[in-house]
Amino acid sequence: MPTSVRALQGDITQLPVQAIVNAANASLLGGGGVDGAIHRAAGPQLLEECRRLGGCPTGEAKLTRGYRLPAEYVIHTVGPVWHGGGRGEPALLASCYRRSLELAAAQGIRSLAFPSISTGIYGYPLELAAQVAVSTVRATLERLDGLEQVIFCCFSARDLQVYQRLLGERAGTDPAPPGQLPGD
Ligand code: AR6
Repeated sequence: MPTSVRALQGDITQLPVQAIVNAANASLLGGGGVDGAIHRAAGPQLLEECRRLGGCPTGEAKLTRGYRLPAEYVIHTVGPVWHGGGRGEPALLASCYRRSLELAAAQGIRSLAFPSISTGIYGYPLELAAQVAVSTVRATLERLDGLEQVIFCCFSARDLQVYQRLLGERAGTDPAPPGQLPGD
């Protein structure tokens, strides 16, 4: 069965999916943005498990449990800091999406949500990052089994519009009630 790939607007810490991806930093010891929100929602045991992982290089991904999150797992990946695009940023960002999906598939995860990696504090232009995200996810899913649903979780309405355009989705779909995904 082909994997469903879509975008929605929301707080990734609230999504009823089996795994969420965290846009972390190389220490894996927490930070601001979506990383801070995930650690707050998961509780202190997440940081304890992260301490044992010994960090993570840019473009790689590591798996932990989700603790108090609705999600069973968190996949922590480290996006590149944007320096203008000439320091390998697109390849490193693509690697984040690819490695996260590979880790999810290896763990038997069926549903996974991504935030827009690197486009907040790390400054990667949203439009360029979304192109990498959508094309890499589509290409990687061609060769992976088991994933039924991949979601791009956008924090703002503007980000959602960009992802929906790239995915060829209709804008203005009704939001789902809390605890439910649109279309469920
Ligand atoms: N749900 C979904 N998306 C969110 C949420 C949320 N709760 N909160 C923020 N975003 P950022 P980066 C969006 O800055 O650019 C941390 O300090 C946000 O609007 O979280 O990869 C880490 O520890 C943006 O679209 O991550 C690193 O040091 C997207 O998530 C550094 O920030 C990513 O923004 C990583 O920077």
